[in-house]
Amino acid sequence: MKRRLVLALAASAAALAATGAATAQELLKIGLILPMTGPFASTGKQIDAAVKLYMQQNGDAVAGRKVQVILKDDTGAADTTKRLAQELIVNDKVSVLAGFGLTPLALAPAPLATQAKVPEIVMAAATATITEASPYIVRSSFTLPQATVPMVEWATKNGLKKVVTLVSDFGPGLDAEKAFSEGFTKAGGTVENLRVPLRNPDFSPFLQRAADAKPDAVFVFVPSGVGAQFMKQFSERGLDKSGIRLISTGDVVDDDILNEMGGVAAGVVSTHHYSAAHDSPENKAFVEAFRKANGNMRPNFMAVGGYDGMHLVYEGLKKTNGQAGEALLKAMSGMSWTSPRGPVSIDPATRDIVQNIYVRKVETRDGELYNVEFATIPNVKDPVKAAKGN
Ligand code: PHB
Repeated sequence: MKRRLVLALAASAAALAATGAATAQELLKIGLILPMTGPFASTGKQIDAAVKLYMQQNGDAVAGRKVQVILKDDTGAADTTKRLAQELIVNDKVSVLAGFGLTPLALAPAPLATQAKVPEIVMAAATATITEASPYIVRSSFTLPQATVPMVEWATKNGLKKVVTLVSDFGPGLDAEKAFSEGFTKAGGTVENLRVPLRNPDFSPFLQRAADAKPDAVFVFVPSGVGAQFMKQFSERGLDKSGIRLISTGDVVDDDILNEMGGVAAGVVSTHHYSAAHDSPENKAFVEAFRKANGNMRPNFMAVGGYDGMHLVYEGLKKTNGQAGEALLKAMSGMSWTSPRGPVSIDPATRDIVQNIYVRKVETRDGELYNVEFATIPNVKDPVKAAKGN
């Protein structure tokens, strides 16, 4: 009798341990919403590949939670992003929303993230104000003012006096235009602003106007994936032979499409937080593994945003022992680590990323075009928030 009781207790203890283990292996779902089709599919493809690589390297379980990524294609339409976010929260019960290839796509689900207390990791979109749309937003990408302000300094130091800005007419373009124009005029330069529609852009009439203004340089922002089309029209209009310099943020000469641009891209100086040519052991390992896993595709800055976004989730879960929600949000804020792009941290006051911005020039290396970094501005905060005292 006694023996039987002991056995029964042992059995129930074992059962309890098993249940405990089962609880510990509770699924943690990440809803990854990206433009996998449509004009911004390059961003979706890069981030999806980076998320898969991160999980291949770090496993599909962390801090006792099994991680499942549910990938959804919003085709680049904000109302679709919002509907998908709602479904992921209500039906799939995701603990994290991630991705967001464009600013309107990051803004649309922000109220849902707040309501449901689900962290929203912005891996791509880069308008400065995005992090203010919800206290649950954490950003692993960058901001346009962060990438642009160092270009003002380079342009001024290199004797440019008159610049035409040419940007896509939506959040990040307007951020880039403002950051460049304000800084450059303050330094004594003159600026003319041109805005190109985001959807189906025809750059020709704008390039003609830019050429007619006879500036020292054209400063350009177009979203990732669109740069090749811009460069084609830039050379078709003969601007590359007109003596007008082309300067930009790294979005225009992004690594996904840089090599297809050909000679017209050679010599373009840009400022950005990531180049596939970044010289560090972490980046060499990242680029090699990414290429190997993706038929030799070169990672661009979107891929690094995705990879680092996953790092935030995994390392955050380690800190909270697998707890999601508010605890995970807190654990991600203030985190610092060495990314393939260099040293980074999440500013706990703004939940925005602090990172180095590099000045780069397009050069040929081993027969391929790369953005070769030649100067570093360390630990740059988003200047818009810094100006507000954050
Ligand atoms: C954005 O919509 O915020 C965005 C998209 C592509 C970029 C940069 C910013 O390359």
